[in-house]
Amino acid sequence: VPAKNIRNFSIIAHIDHGKSTLADTLISRTGTVADRDMEAQLLDSMDIERERGITIKLNSARMNYTARNGETYVLNLIDTPGHVDFSYEVSRSLAACEGALLVVDASQGVEAQTVANVYLALENDLEIIPVLNKIDLPGAEPERVCREIEDVLGLDTSQAVQASAKANIGMEDILEQIVELVPPPPDTADQPLRALIFDSYFDSYRGVVCVFRVVDGTISVGDQVKLMNTGAPATVDEVGIMRPNKVPVTTLSAGEVGYFIGNIKSVADARVGDTITSAKKPAKEPLEGYAEATPMVYCGLFPTDSDRYDDLREALGKLQINDAALCYEPEQSSAMGFGFRCGFLGLLHMEIVQERLEREYNLDLITTAPSVVYKVYMNDAEQTCVDCANPASLPDAGKRDRIEEPYVNLELITPADYVGSLMELSTQRRGEFIDMTYLSEGRTCLKYEIPLGEVVTDFFDELKSRSKGYASMEYSFLEYRKNDMVRLDVMINGEPAEPLACIVHKDKAYAMGRGLVDKLKELIPRQMFRIPIQAAIGAKIIASTSISAMRKDVLAKCYGGDISRKKKLLKKQAAGKKRMKQFGKVEVPQEAFMAVLKVD
Ligand code: GTP
Repeated sequence: VPAKNIRNFSIIAHIDHGKSTLADTLISRTGTVADRDMEAQLLDSMDIERERGITIKLNSARMNYTARNGETYVLNLIDTPGHVDFSYEVSRSLAACEGALLVVDASQGVEAQTVANVYLALENDLEIIPVLNKIDLPGAEPERVCREIEDVLGLDTSQAVQASAKANIGMEDILEQIVELVPPPPDTADQPLRALIFDSYFDSYRGVVCVFRVVDGTISVGDQVKLMNTGAPATVDEVGIMRPNKVPVTTLSAGEVGYFIGNIKSVADARVGDTITSAKKPAKEPLEGYAEATPMVYCGLFPTDSDRYDDLREALGKLQINDAALCYEPEQSSAMGFGFRCGFLGLLHMEIVQERLEREYNLDLITTAPSVVYKVYMNDAEQTCVDCANPASLPDAGKRDRIEEPYVNLELITPADYVGSLMELSTQRRGEFIDMTYLSEGRTCLKYEIPLGEVVTDFFDELKSRSKGYASMEYSFLEYRKNDMVRLDVMINGEPAEPLACIVHKDKAYAMGRGLVDKLKELIPRQMFRIPIQAAIGAKIIASTSISAMRKDVLAKCYGGDISRKKKLLKKQAAGKKRMKQFGKVEVPQEAFMAVLKVD
């Protein structure tokens, strides 16, 4: 295909504004996949994604479209993940395109994620084509939403297509605009090979599949290539295009999008953002924008049944083959036995990994509360800095000079009614107010600088409940800042419960200590003896309570009752036991490990 007849584009949208539906409709409209083969939501492939309705893994599709001018074009749709945890992947996908469809729900409007994605697209110099989706809904207000796109994003909407991905309205106009407005890729097929990997995944039958955009040169079956950042060599065993199923071809040249399969063992060797070049005639410089994954959130994962530690290690190893951003190292605690401290890009990434470990590997896990990475400067001559991602291992107060915690830029978009309540929330979470702007008809954008540790707790849930679901948020890493942080320890029955330790701001420590012991009292089941629960900073107890002893056993309640009811109760008790961990003589349920997130 000549480069002038290729168009590479992405779809950017806020969650639920209809990105996947639009992708599916475009794919079926261009006859790429026969209707009977259309699985609902073709582009979202993982089960968990489908259940949650969000895109995590990228996918792409090559479509052929004969335009009104009579020429046939190759349109490469490059999907982007729809969550802030994966914004690096989003930026690499956008770097592989020349244009982007900006899909905005005409009954809603511009949301925080829309804004963030548009900025990423502008950084990559993309032509942005606004599309007002869901025009079929009675509540659609295309004029208002157009004004919002103009005011907030500064984009021209005079040509914006009014579309419905669901009702198949406006699809041809969108395809025509892609052909007309998105620039063709430059024809640099005669230069040394450089291809940008924007997705790579592990296929258990084929090994690592790298999905890329050829930027310069050509790549063919049998080529010897290497990855410029990781240095990994590979032989191209198969090269092909996605329709969206893999279809082998012999060669792909500058401007084209496709995949290759070689002898690559782990996605860590072929990471998103890396540049594929020829081993014999390498390019001088790799493409810009490659970055290592930096985990932002850590937690401890422990098997409830300690015999399954080896299974957990094996499962994590398998997941890592397909997830270069997941990291883990062994962690041992007297209370919890052997487990792993794992690092994730964000909370969603963390939840996905936990869910896969439990579902796909059948593991029962105890998860400790998430923690961010603190920079701890020690009191020695060099003021050595150590990263601390495990509150229990925070060096004692006497040994450290200062603690710095990560801050993020937080952007909230909300209907005006909830501004007061959301400002209150942000202030409670130690946010520093930066700016407030009015978008349109009462919708407001709030900006804060706020500690990441305060955002990764239940901030999102709080935001949604305070705004009845209408507010949206987005954040990006800002910098490390010094703050007065202390380690709050918890003692259960006189023994330190390391996995319950947390790092909190000094001004919040007392309230947190109080809240935490009260919450634990609610969550830990009574035993045959009294259980004291204490919170302490260093040697100083700042809050304490106790769980009184149980008087009767559970069966006493069904005094004389029938046997099936007794069995049911015992079964219930046994099931409840699954997610328990023994702390000395006390059984602590999974919920208690998350108690720190639940303290109001
Ligand atoms: P993420 O993958 O999470 O980013 O979501 P998405 O943007 O892909 O949204 P998706 O395509 O899953 O659509 C969200 C919901 O909106 C679904 O219930 C769709 O059926 C519905 N929807 C999408 N397009 C339209 C449309 O044009 N009209 C109407 N009425 N509903 C639509």
